[in-house]
Amino acid sequence: MEDYQRHEEGPFARYTIDSPDTNLHFTQFLVELGISLSSEINPDRLLERIVDELLLVTNADGATLYLLDDDGQLHFKVSKNKSMRLHLSEATSGAAAFTPVPMDPTFVSAYSALNNRLVNIEDVYQSHEFNFEGPKKYDATNRYRSKSMLVAPLTNYEGKVIGVMQLVNAIDRITHEVIPFEKKYEELIRAMASYAAVAISNVRLLEETRLRAEMLREANLDSIHSLAMAAETRDDDTGDHVRRMERYSLTLARRLGLPQETAEEISYSSIMHDVGKISIPDHILKKPGKLTPEEFEVMKGHSLAGWRILSAKPFFRVAREVARHHHEKWNGTGYPDGTGGEAIPLSARVVAVVDVWDALTNRRAYKEAWGFERSIEEMRRCAGTHFDPRLIEAWDALFHEGELERIYNEWKG
Ligand code: C2E
Ligand code: SIN
Ligand code: SIN
Ligand code: FE
Repeated sequence: MEDYQRHEEGPFARYTIDSPDTNLHFTQFLVELGISLSSEINPDRLLERIVDELLLVTNADGATLYLLDDDGQLHFKVSKNKSMRLHLSEATSGAAAFTPVPMDPTFVSAYSALNNRLVNIEDVYQSHEFNFEGPKKYDATNRYRSKSMLVAPLTNYEGKVIGVMQLVNAIDRITHEVIPFEKKYEELIRAMASYAAVAISNVRLLEETRLRAEMLREANLDSIHSLAMAAETRDDDTGDHVRRMERYSLTLARRLGLPQETAEEISYSSIMHDVGKISIPDHILKKPGKLTPEEFEVMKGHSLAGWRILSAKPFFRVAREVARHHHEKWNGTGYPDGTGGEAIPLSARVVAVVDVWDALTNRRAYKEAWGFERSIEEMRRCAGTHFDPRLIEAWDALFHEGELERIYNEWKG
């Protein structure tokens, strides 16, 4: 009876199949293979694994996988040959090293792809159906003898051919002689080809989704910049303020040891912290002198206004909490919620430091720019009252390292 032995050696489960007539074991094997292939999301490793599995299962000497690329030609992706100890892949050799197979049905792989047909050849040297000049020339240079060959199309779930698998020289497991590919392997390679095609399509979809997400992110960042610029209140602003906020926030967040992704999220969110100022009347916003208590009450509304402007979309989650909480204080005396300590989101604590630093070191309608020494003194003075002391420690370190000055000088408006 059918006997599938699974050897748990090496990185992958190894299979040998002795008589894979259609049955439960066979189905089970394919399901396991499908699951194992679908968990591979690295396209190059996926192709390698498909070729490895094929060689193991069929006991062929060599296997080559071609995929139909955008130019409509079959491009070599992975090729392995056990007796020649050959292992080539497009990923490591570079696409230019191999010419694509033209879609000419006199070539067996092109024929298989064009007609969605499986081809099983006993001896390529005896075959007159296809043009084997290429393999023969290859054999001559490599002192190889291509004999039996099994070629199967890779068909995706829409029934479209996306590539071809080519196996060469089935080896008898006992005599080690080259034998024809048994009929039973036709079903097997067909099933594996369809699994492989689905797995490849999935990887491509994932890749596409990743690219799309990346594009969306870029587009979002663009609109964020526009939004932040629109909310800028200083007439002479060149966008340098926005850049400084971004750079300072990124630098501080990274200094705190946050993962790069989190640091970047805080960074792009920081530039939206004051978008709510768009709702503040100009006579208050641009007042040259000190605000009356009534005017300041109006001004304080910019935190909640910003929080309302920024939608609840996941992309704006951090921006939203920053807009709302960047004027909270560590001791709980800030606005709008009067939250304190670690109840204030870390993102907002970071932006609070950066915001005040930028307000101190630059001119405002109501104040002149302060020097760095005076500004850092003020920041230190407010550690534990206004600011999270741990953040001021990090900020002080960045100051001493000259990092703050570097950012300031790069983007002085
Ligand atoms: P802004 O000018 O961007 O200032 C941001 C924050 O920097 C202020 O938030 C405050 O926490 C801090 N800050 C600014 N100057 C000083 C300072 O001399 N010492 C210290 N320790 N911190 C300072 P705040 O107070 O909630 O103000 C929010 C916004 O309200 C300010 O943003 C500014 O647009 C406006 N604003 C505040 N006070 C005045 C004022 O006296 N006159 C005018 N025209 N606007 C003011
Ligand atoms: C929110 O709903 O996202 C903010 C509420 C708060 O933290 O005060
Ligand atoms: C302020 O930020 O306006 C003062 C901070 C403080 O003294 O706690
Ligand atoms: Fe603000």
